[in-house]
Amino acid sequence: MLKAIYPGTFDPVTMGHWDIIQRAEKLVDHLVVAVLHNPAKQPTFSIAERVDFLRELTQPYANVEVATFNGLLVDFARQQGAQCIIRGVRAYSDFEYEFQMALMNRKLAPELETLFLMPKEEFSVLSSRMVREVGMMGGNITGLVPEILLERTVLRLKESGNFS
Ligand code: PNS
Repeated sequence: MLKAIYPGTFDPVTMGHWDIIQRAEKLVDHLVVAVLHNPAKQPTFSIAERVDFLRELTQPYANVEVATFNGLLVDFARQQGAQCIIRGVRAYSDFEYEFQMALMNRKLAPELETLFLMPKEEFSVLSSRMVREVGMMGGNITGLVPEILLERTVLRLKESGNFS
């Protein structure tokens, strides 16, 4: 059985993440979407919100589960008995960071393979950071986050940005 981990911060979940999840679940038997829970960082969306959003989104997929992790990704992947890590690459600018992370993870856990998937071109310039910035300033984020999460994401970002 091929089990993969798709790790990320997901602050918030974007159409790019959703695109990668849908591609990855077709390739593997079991996909664990793993949300980084780093108590030292202050994300806009709480860990509970990010997990709830991802669970709601992936609920129709029996082979996808959502979990949280802290510490090293490779430790979590080993605990889970996963053979690979999935990462999305959007543009060339992602490459340097992703390359370094994949090689560090390989050094730490040579048995784990990192697989890179490309989202649809229209999501290649989309990031959680941009969604947060636009949403907090009251801009339209329709089409940038999954439809079923749109209303809650908009409200939450407006609250965080004190936009009135
Ligand atoms: O969505 P992001 O912020 O690009 O995801 C980054 C993430 C969570 C995959 C990365 O920060 C991570 O794996 N953090 C856990 C700590 C770790 O394992 N570090 C060593 C790899 S460089």
